[in-house]
Amino acid sequence: MLGEKMQDALNKQLNNEIYSAYLYMSMSAYSTFIGLKGFANWFMVQYQEEMTHAMKFYDYINDQGGQVRLMALAQPMTEFESPLDMFEKTLEHEKFITKCINELVDLAISEKDHATNIFLQWFVTEQIEEEGNDNDIIAKLKLIGDNGNGLLMLDKELATRVFTPPPTSGN
Ligand code: FEO
Repeated sequence: MLGEKMQDALNKQLNNEIYSAYLYMSMSAYSTFIGLKGFANWFMVQYQEEMTHAMKFYDYINDQGGQVRLMALAQPMTEFESPLDMFEKTLEHEKFITKCINELVDLAISEKDHATNIFLQWFVTEQIEEEGNDNDIIAKLKLIGDNGNGLLMLDKELATRVFTPPPTSGN
């Protein structure tokens, strides 16, 4: 059974995860527009991952007998200065998501909601991986600088990313 406060906070995070998907879809569209199909693929895989995160919250709220309440989505950014700018904004956004997850854990602990605390642990681990991936690509983009060949090589590498669905909630 979810308390009202916890339910509201989980619904807010459901919205944050769908917004994350929307933001990365926008970055994918921009990447396609500037001719970087590999970057576009990477961000579209990220979009798919974020939708699975959103569905974990959706299913968990339902499984706990709570009520899913969808909210309005903010408009994502549509223009970026460069591929590096996109990944710096991605990292900045993921740091915000990490903060949100940590605050949810704090709330679960203060509400003595052990089930939600256990549910959230998957996201605590996931955020380490997400920030790590972004940091790796940012480091490569900084090495590449203005080198067009380097950028095309990274674009080829990012074209190989494949979406792998995470385990369903509770596993
Ligand atoms: Fe769902 Fe990128 O955190």
